[in-house]
Amino acid sequence: MKLTKRVKQLMSLMTLEEKVGQLHQVPPFFFSDELVNEVAGPLRKYKISPTQLFHVGSILGTAGPEEMKHLQSMYLQRSRLKIPLLFMADIIHGYKTIFPIPLAIAATMDPKRSETAARIAAKEATTSGIAVTFSPMADLARDARWGRVMESSGEDPFVNYHMTYAAVKGYQGSSLKDPSTLAACGKHVVAYGAGIAGKDYTQAELSKHSLYQYYLEGYRACVDAEARLLMSSFNVVEGIPSTVSSFVLKTLIRNHLGFKGVIISDYDSLNEAQFHRVTSSGEETALKGIEATLDIEMSSAIYQNHLIPLIEQGKVSVKLLNDAVGRVLMLKEELGLLDDPYRGLNPALEATLPLSENHYKAAYDVAKASPILLKNEQALPLLPEEEIVFVGSLLDEQNLLGAWAWHGEVERTSSLAMVLRQRYSFPLLMTDSLEETDLKTIQKAKKVVVFVGERSKEFGEARSKMSPTLSDEHQRLLQTILSINPNVITVVMAGRPLVLSPTVVASQAILYSFYLGSAMADVLVDTLFGGINPSGTLPMTLASDVGQLPIHTLSLPTGRPFEGKTYTYTSHYIDGGNTPLFPMGFGLSYTFFSIQKAHKLHENEDQIDLDVTVQNTGHVYGEHPIFVYLKTPIVGVALPEYQLIAFNRMGLEPGMRQTLTLTIDKKHVSYYDTSFKRHRFDGPFHVKIVLMNEQYEVTL
Ligand code: NOJ
Repeated sequence: MKLTKRVKQLMSLMTLEEKVGQLHQVPPFFFSDELVNEVAGPLRKYKISPTQLFHVGSILGTAGPEEMKHLQSMYLQRSRLKIPLLFMADIIHGYKTIFPIPLAIAATMDPKRSETAARIAAKEATTSGIAVTFSPMADLARDARWGRVMESSGEDPFVNYHMTYAAVKGYQGSSLKDPSTLAACGKHVVAYGAGIAGKDYTQAELSKHSLYQYYLEGYRACVDAEARLLMSSFNVVEGIPSTVSSFVLKTLIRNHLGFKGVIISDYDSLNEAQFHRVTSSGEETALKGIEATLDIEMSSAIYQNHLIPLIEQGKVSVKLLNDAVGRVLMLKEELGLLDDPYRGLNPALEATLPLSENHYKAAYDVAKASPILLKNEQALPLLPEEEIVFVGSLLDEQNLLGAWAWHGEVERTSSLAMVLRQRYSFPLLMTDSLEETDLKTIQKAKKVVVFVGERSKEFGEARSKMSPTLSDEHQRLLQTILSINPNVITVVMAGRPLVLSPTVVASQAILYSFYLGSAMADVLVDTLFGGINPSGTLPMTLASDVGQLPIHTLSLPTGRPFEGKTYTYTSHYIDGGNTPLFPMGFGLSYTFFSIQKAHKLHENEDQIDLDVTVQNTGHVYGEHPIFVYLKTPIVGVALPEYQLIAFNRMGLEPGMRQTLTLTIDKKHVSYYDTSFKRHRFDGPFHVKIVLMNEQYEVTL
């Protein structure tokens, strides 16, 4: 990386200790007033002195603008060269205006919504002095057991690429000099979503081909969109923890993808290389980390304790250290921190901008395209004049924000019950265990709307599930209701694609919603009553049995496909089916669409424009994503039969017809060969266009 004159000059004044300090990130509590004058607590644990503490370069998370101001000013008073601290935090789907969880944003299949959510999150978070967000999570996620699928954009690498790219653009805006932008830190390199059996902090088991062909796309999006940082993953890939892996950080990330920015470890993950039993001392860990080009160590103090002795012994070159420090200082300079240590900080604005009316509206607008209608036997939308009863303890839940909403304010979030009460006077049975009188009310009702699923604390980091299904309590609730009234509409609220039981499937309608954040209750009520026509589609496949997990739509063709039970030696289960309950991309609407024609408009070296004429054949306005899949040519390496190469959203008034132009970017119409070289497919391209239940095939 080319350094500016200012950074070069600064580095010429820095001692080795000061340089190494820039590579250390600590949580704010390290600076608590009692600790800075004596070696105690975390300082003792990590064996760093108060002098070393005042060399650290960045802070992980803050409680708000006051804390940031206090820490920065105290730090600057004590620091010799007065290089400001850089504040980084997990702003994942909003600061105080909480947007849908990333998986819910992916269900909209609308990268613009991903960009909007990120832009507003940046505007709000920067008022508290935060300058870097640990987002977006670009990990491809295929295993519903993993709690962090909620932070991903799901199972498809092409969707993953576009949602991730848009989020980075949203956070970073057009220039990081603008104090309302955040530098984005894409994470977790690499393949953190491929943890075995859906667990966190474990090994990723995948072929190198899968790694290049599918898992790299999200990180490639970060690099293409110029995210300034990437975070290494907690897991072991190809036998080495990513944080100390030269293959991951140097070969894949810096050389193959061309990343030039800062690589930061995950929390304590440099130190943890020893727990993985890959390095046997702090010294060896520091050596492996710096050789792998890991720039910042989050939380633990392996670099602070060991880099200088390694340099003195000649085992680490000063150049290696300077490269890392240069990248960190260039980031500080680019953010404008060297001129204004309090970049963006504005306590007055922090008190008013977050959750302002406009931001709430934006959150509502992003969320309204997310709920997914999985089934509807003319049960939805509800009519206000019908006799309806609403059931389930989730009605009363105010924490609709979803995990990773540290600054979100649950008490300022409306529950479903609050919204329903404001607008209607239907009976609300806010319980999962029904009494006799409840049963009578349910029996008499024309329609019963039942809310089941997960709560915010059931998904996110360290929230893996062995069996991502409905709880026994929710199963019983549904069974009891269905046994006395068949007119059931099930609303599933979740942070992951749950495996739905036959009881759920027996409902007349199923509305599936990932957690939608601040506007969830308004959006769900509006969707149930038809103010919003559902237009979300599944970003992850819903399995029909937990035994199918992990399941996704990009499996490779087998030599022995299952073709009914007539032949034994095929790829199948003897105790269940192969097909999922609903595949990725599935989602219905209150209206219907048809695809009338499609043809190539024009083509050049880089792109093909495809014109598709669609019509709304139903009776209400409807929006929906439209997908273009390539039938992959045979190229000497096993590939899924179909690969997503374009998608877009469209909206049509009833009866209206419209011609949309979908652009196919040829750089994505590609594959890796067995030597991990990327090639574009040659045309002609046989494509399948999918709009809800409609399909249309054409050769381009
Ligand atoms: C651990 C998580 O894996 C990572 O995603 C997060 O950014 C850091 N902790 C910091 O909170």
